[in-house]
Amino acid sequence: MTLKRRLPFLRWSVLRFAWAMPGFVKTGQLGDGREAAVAADVEANALAGDVDDVLATMDRFAYEKSMLVNVGDEKGALLDAAVRRADPRRALELGAYCGYSALRIARAAPAAAVYSVEFSAANADIARRIWRHAGMADRITCVVGTLGDGGATLDALAAHGFAPDNLDLLFIDHDKRAYLPDLQRILDRGWLHPGSIVVADNVRVPGAPKYRAYMRDEQGRSFDTVEHRTHVEYQTLLGDLVLESEYLG
Ligand SMILES: C[S@@+](CC[C@H](N)C(=O)[O-])C[C@H]1O[C@@H](n2cnc3c(N)ncnc32)[C@H](O)[C@@H]1O
Repeated sequence: MTLKRRLPFLRWSVLRFAWAMPGFVKTGQLGDGREAAVAADVEANALAGDVDDVLATMDRFAYEKSMLVNVGDEKGALLDAAVRRADPRRALELGAYCGYSALRIARAAPAAAVYSVEFSAANADIARRIWRHAGMADRITCVVGTLGDGGATLDALAAHGFAPDNLDLLFIDHDKRAYLPDLQRILDRGWLHPGSIVVADNVRVPGAPKYRAYMRDEQGRSFDTVEHRTHVEYQTLLGDLVLESEYLG
């Protein structure tokens, strides 16, 4: 691994990321067009219909061109393993961004219908372009909205067939302050069943302390959680935590 890959501060696109963060929270984009650029890069350079090549192209873009806030290759392998463990028929992701993690979920769960909730319509369009190029447009559906919008997005998901006990895998990777309230909204609808798997990214960086504390309190009661020590995406300097929780009912 090259020094630039290991040490993120040697990369301009990572330095720029630091001051793009306030804008990112509002728009879901980093402000220099890198999200649209990765879709164009995939369309130009990845083999159409080849999910592996699309994901590899996105990883290469993030390492060599502009850093992206995808779950990335290292944490993505943890996500893949959790998906295989859940063996889902129905999976839900919160936070599509450019569509990278939804592609990983769909690849690891060939029988699953994958849904992704994304508040930025621009990101939803970018993700859909990439899913189309990967040949996965019929397996992954993006719902534009947020679970905290008073019920409209939850109702839209219900119209897509979300119902008590039929959500097998939930991947939480959106607004860190919304992790716990959005999990609670899903629990209130009764969509999880004993054995459902909930994976949460970025629990250490940027951090979701209330979510982590909740899972610690619920350990052995409603959830059984493993904390995976790993690294922030696309570098090995900063540590991160991915939480994998089995719902016990
Ligand atoms: C870290 S990125 C997701 C990365 C993606 N899961 C991946 O690994 O490829 C976070 C995304 O969540 C979106 N987002 C932020 N707050 C949200 C909310 N409350 N509901 C839905 N999406 C949200 C942002 O627009 C952004 O696209």
